[in-house]
Order: sequence, then C-alpha cells, then structure tokens
Amino acid sequence: MKKAVVISLGGSMIFKGSAINVDFIKRFAGIVRGMESLGIVVGGGSMAAKYIEAAKQFNEDNYDLDEIGISVTHANARLVKAAVKGARFFDHLDEAVYFLQAQHGIAVMGGMFPGETTDTVAALLAESMNARFVNVSDVDGIYSANPKVFKNARKYHVLSPSQLVKLALEHDSRRPRENFVIDALAAKILARSGVEAHFVSGRNLDDVKNAILGKHHSGTVILE
Ligand code: UTP
Repeated sequence: MKKAVVISLGGSMIFKGSAINVDFIKRFAGIVRGMESLGIVVGGGSMAAKYIEAAKQFNEDNYDLDEIGISVTHANARLVKAAVKGARFFDHLDEAVYFLQAQHGIAVMGGMFPGETTDTVAALLAESMNARFVNVSDVDGIYSANPKVFKNARKYHVLSPSQLVKLALEHDSRRPRENFVIDALAAKILARSGVEAHFVSGRNLDDVKNAILGKHHSGTVILE
C-alpha cells in the first residue's frame, strides 16, 4: 500500500495581504485532488495574528488567545475542505486517523489544543499513520536564520531530526503566534518516531508535488 501523507499547510499560504488567496487554494486543491490517505492540517496565518493581536488589547490570557487562533485555523481548514473535492473535515485526531485508515480519503483538520500549533497536530497525525510529513509554507525550506529578515541566512537541504529539534527550540517562546517554521513540539514528535519530513514553499507547486511523492525538491528534507 502507498505511504500516507500529512501536509501541514501554513496559514501564510491561505492569505495574500489581507485577502484570502483563493487562487492558491484552487491550485493546491488541484494537485491533491483524488489522492488517497492524505491528511491536511491548515494553519491560521495573518488572520489568526490579527485576532490574537486585537484580543491582547483586552488583556486576554494566552490560553484564550490560543483558542481564538484555533477558531481561525478551523475556518481556514473548512475553506480548504470546501476546495478539495470529497475531502472531510475533522475536529478530533482519532476520528481523522480512523477515517484515513478505513476510507483512505482526504481528511482536513485545524488546531486542537491551546499551547500547540497546527504543525503539532500534523506531526501527531503523521506519526499515528506512519505517514510522510510535508510542511508547506511561504518559506522554501529551513534556514540558519529567518530569511525574510537576514539576507545571508543559509538554507539547509538536509537536516537530522535532532538538528531540526535544536533549531526549533531556539525559537520556542510558547506564546500565541510566535514560532519558527516548525513548532518545537512538532519537531520533537517527528524526531521521536523518525518521521520522514519535507519542508517546501507553497509558491512552488512542483516542489510540493515532489515532496508529497517523497521525490527530490529544492526545499529541506529531514532524514535520520
Ligand atoms: P498556527 O498553527 O497557524 O500557528 O496556529 P503558526 O504556526 O504560528 O502560523 P502559520 O499559520 O502556520 O503561519 C495559529 C495560532 O492558533 C493557536 C496558537 O496561538 C497559534 O499561534 N493554536 C493553533 C493553538 O493554540 N493550538 C493548535 O492546535 C493550533
């Protein structure tokens, strides 16, 4: 049987400025259409950031800020589910796992618990399905520093799971909307189970397709 795949779809790809990037969602849906045993976990993006920043002005606590973020990821996930023909939306991980194992269809999820991110949900889903993990964001791999800020940041083409955890931990504040290209908890889950992981940009759909198939791409691969 073919290996299951779980995509952590960064919210950064769902928005273009303040608008919803319907064109990207359509093109993404086009490449995953008809796939079997595919999980897609969708992030909150700039919309989650806007809500969280606004709620901070009312001194909302971190737990409730996270709940607001989770609500936005659910809205984004339902939008992606609408675009991907035949896909089903799930709130609970065990239900998504059961569906993927029994029906081999496409399961779409958002966030689950405060203190986490959608990367963690995707890592858990990949772990439980023995799946390939594909992170799709607006960054084309893992860099030594944020490439949007540091022009001389170096891209890594291959990293070990422990190197990924180390990099992710350096950026882990556990505050709402503050993290690295992958959340440290998600990196640890991928590492503890040796999950094959790929980091590519959603702006390069050929890379996304190749990562889904476990083929060569221009992003970063995590290998033991
Ligand atoms: P994201 O998973 O999108 O965070 O969830 P992110 O990684 O910072 O952003 P992108 O979208 O991938 O670029 C948005 C926010 O929702 C809350 C957190 O506050 C997070 O920062 N959240 C999300 C949770 O608390 N738990 C979850 O399971 C998911």
